Amino acid sequence: MKVILVSNYSEMSEKAARIIEEQINKNDHSILGFATGSTPLGLYGNLIEGHKKHGVSYKNVQSFNLDEYLGLDKNHPGSYHTFMYENLFKDIDISMEHIQIPHSSSLSMEQECKRYDQVIDRIGPIDLQILGIGSNGHIGFNEPGSNPNSTTHVVELAASTRNDNTHFFGSLEEVPTHAITMGIKSILKSKRILLLASGKRKAEAVKRLLSGDISEMFPASHLWNHHDVTLIVDQEAYKLVN
Ligand code: F6R
Repeated sequence: MKVILVSNYSEMSEKAARIIEEQINKNDHSILGFATGSTPLGLYGNLIEGHKKHGVSYKNVQSFNLDEYLGLDKNHPGSYHTFMYENLFKDIDISMEHIQIPHSSSLSMEQECKRYDQVIDRIGPIDLQILGIGSNGHIGFNEPGSNPNSTTHVVELAASTRNDNTHFFGSLEEVPTHAITMGIKSILKSKRILLLASGKRKAEAVKRLLSGDISEMFPASHLWNHHDVTLIVDQEAYKLVN
């Protein structure tokens, strides 16, 4: 794992944006994997700026998102469909047909999980997957205890995850209890992974990740089994690493 230590959130977001733009410059038909949550917001702001000011084009880019809540209409303000549209897609020139986000309203979630993996296999592999890290070490919504061989599946969210995400909803009760997520195996199929961690809330998780111990109880540790992972971490998130 390559570690890039930066001073703060805005430097992390800048660096991550430059890496994605380099990927697109190298191949304008790149397949990108996007994450939601607070961490990539700055990155997405920079990508929008790169598109508007410097003409970086997403016309031929395809995208996959890691996960989606169950039980929310895709137009719900808290859905990840809405998140991606509002924070990135509406301000870049990506084609709506090139966007893949798991559907949580399918009649059969089992079929939807299968379908999503098949689409990743047909269009993919993902060239560059962006990840955040949960304070409990989750990646996507693969919570502690997740099977490292998992493909896309439905999960029950950990209490800490629902708590961490309350600020996107009015109250804890409104945070969905379940989600559909790419599995650890599906994430590790990506050619390259860019993991972002910022702020003291992530310091314990970053320390545990960088200890190098691989454990099912700490899903992000499976990233040690991938050959091309870059962690961009800021001082606050790095402060417990000796
Ligand atoms: C989001 C996702 C999650 C988040 C993680 C960190 O699509 O899959 O793994 O990356 O929960 O969230 P933030 O960035 O809000 O701290």
